[in-house]
Amino acid sequence: MKQTEIIDVKTTGNNLTSYEEAYRNFDWKQAEEAFSWHRTGKVNAAYEAIDRHAENGLGDKTALLYSDPKREESYTFQEMKEQSNRFGNVLKKIGLTKGDRMFIFMPRSPELYFSFLGALKLGVIVGPLFEAFMEGAVRDRLEDSEAVALVTTPQLLERVPVKELPALKHVILVGATGEQEEGFYSFEEEMKHASPELEIEWVDREDGMLLHYTSGSTGKPKGVLHVHNAMIQHYQTGKWVLDLQEDDIYWCTADPGWVTGTSYGIFAPWLNGVTNVIRGGRFSPDDWYQTLEKNGVTVWYSAPTAFRMLMGAGSEVVKQFDLSKLRHILSVGEPLNPEVVRWGLKTYGLRIHDSWWMTETGGILISNYPQMEIKPGSMGKPFPGIQAAIIDDQGNELPPYRMGNLAIRTPWPSMMRKIWNNPAKYEEYFRIPGWYVSGDSAYMDEDGYFWFQGRIDDVINTSGERVGPFEVESKLVEHPAVAEAGVIGKPDPVRGEIIKAFISLRDGFTPSDELKEEIRKFVKEGLAAHAAPREIEFKDKLPKTRSGKIMRRVLKAWELDLPTGDLSTMEE
Ligand code: WT7
Repeated sequence: MKQTEIIDVKTTGNNLTSYEEAYRNFDWKQAEEAFSWHRTGKVNAAYEAIDRHAENGLGDKTALLYSDPKREESYTFQEMKEQSNRFGNVLKKIGLTKGDRMFIFMPRSPELYFSFLGALKLGVIVGPLFEAFMEGAVRDRLEDSEAVALVTTPQLLERVPVKELPALKHVILVGATGEQEEGFYSFEEEMKHASPELEIEWVDREDGMLLHYTSGSTGKPKGVLHVHNAMIQHYQTGKWVLDLQEDDIYWCTADPGWVTGTSYGIFAPWLNGVTNVIRGGRFSPDDWYQTLEKNGVTVWYSAPTAFRMLMGAGSEVVKQFDLSKLRHILSVGEPLNPEVVRWGLKTYGLRIHDSWWMTETGGILISNYPQMEIKPGSMGKPFPGIQAAIIDDQGNELPPYRMGNLAIRTPWPSMMRKIWNNPAKYEEYFRIPGWYVSGDSAYMDEDGYFWFQGRIDDVINTSGERVGPFEVESKLVEHPAVAEAGVIGKPDPVRGEIIKAFISLRDGFTPSDELKEEIRKFVKEGLAAHAAPREIEFKDKLPKTRSGKIMRRVLKAWELDLPTGDLSTMEE
């Protein structure tokens, strides 16, 4: 389906060269000039993110603005350098060395960031885990990676089956007091006695840095390994997509348990020497708007679900806050509905810039570059230095408007380098020579914009018509009664598949057959007859990942009475 709506109010990025020019001239080699290894030959991403700034006149600049309902603290680049050095020394004393795996399993807090950076400074590979993981999910990850150390809290320790993890030798407890058993350490005690001076482990750019576990459609979660070299992409996309500038106050709402919370919650802002806001605690519209106001956030990177929830909360709430500092908004993780983009423009007076990438890609590959016209519903165009295409299963590039595999020319700086313990899974992504095959289906329009259609396995074929569930879901959420919608193909003896929609209603609406009929008609008339869901089921809540994606796979399993598979990434 063609989409011609264009929003060309340029709300940000006016300091940047045009997309076309950047795309023509940019080469990843240019990005490297920002780093000190260019001169020294010494590499370490944590050094580049923190120490380099502390040593180059930004020592007193605020690096971290942390708050949660109980704490409010800020740290300069110099303080971040010292705290991460201390933690590096703690690990050194314990005996960790380059290449060892250390996991961090705790809610956001300054200590999480000190540990993360300190471990990197020793060349240790960090695996961040989201605090809501339960025992099974924690065990799978620590077991697969043979982690030797873990940073966690006494509360969360209950979910770590330490005795069943023979490789795990050291547990560092944040907030633990008193004598510790052998192999257990109090973070606070150890930090107190550690030196703020550290001899950094200089690594090879291809050395491991980060292990993010992510779910596939089958099997246990996969450990995606990223290397120090990824910082080149984090830096450059931070500069050009997030449009980070010296005076920015930047807030990425993602937890570091997910890749957005590391690539863009740690590396992109700090590699660019920008003040980074971290907010702990749970989502609420009031709290989020307050975070924006109180910190004077200028650049805000979040996700469609959050924007939809804010949209659901209405524009009255927004008016109670002063968001005048805000100049740039971005989104990632799932399809950004055109409706949300229009609402954002109306409500904040700013465009919401979509960006596309995956845990495996390590950084943004396709985005609505600030200088670009936005076509609501499109993910945008490939970042300079990135070649994206729609290919068929044989690797032939398809012409505009043909739906196919969204693929990227290999390599790029932040590309994953390994699936831990699973070379076969890794190879699957590169099965077509010269390409990384994302598993997403999309098409490209005649202007080179990419339009997401679904995961390959989600695309619906009804009576021989291909329908992307996203298009239907986007239409559904435009209906005033619909809060969220998940659409699946349900096997049908006559039509191959029919479209079934699971819908949660906005407050104030009650389920009824009339409402179902009205919604069906709305899609039929707004999108296409064949795209209208033949079946609608109302649900109080839809199954979602913690990064906010509606889990169609789970809806499908419920519908067909099949096993739901790995649910470790599902929100409570
Ligand atoms: C999958 C990757 C890396 C960000 C956090 C999610 C979907 C990502 C978009 C977008 C539509 C998107 C894709 C992709 N996705 N961005 N802008 N529009 N879909 O990382 O958990 O590894 O998920 O998220 O399906 O393959 P992830």
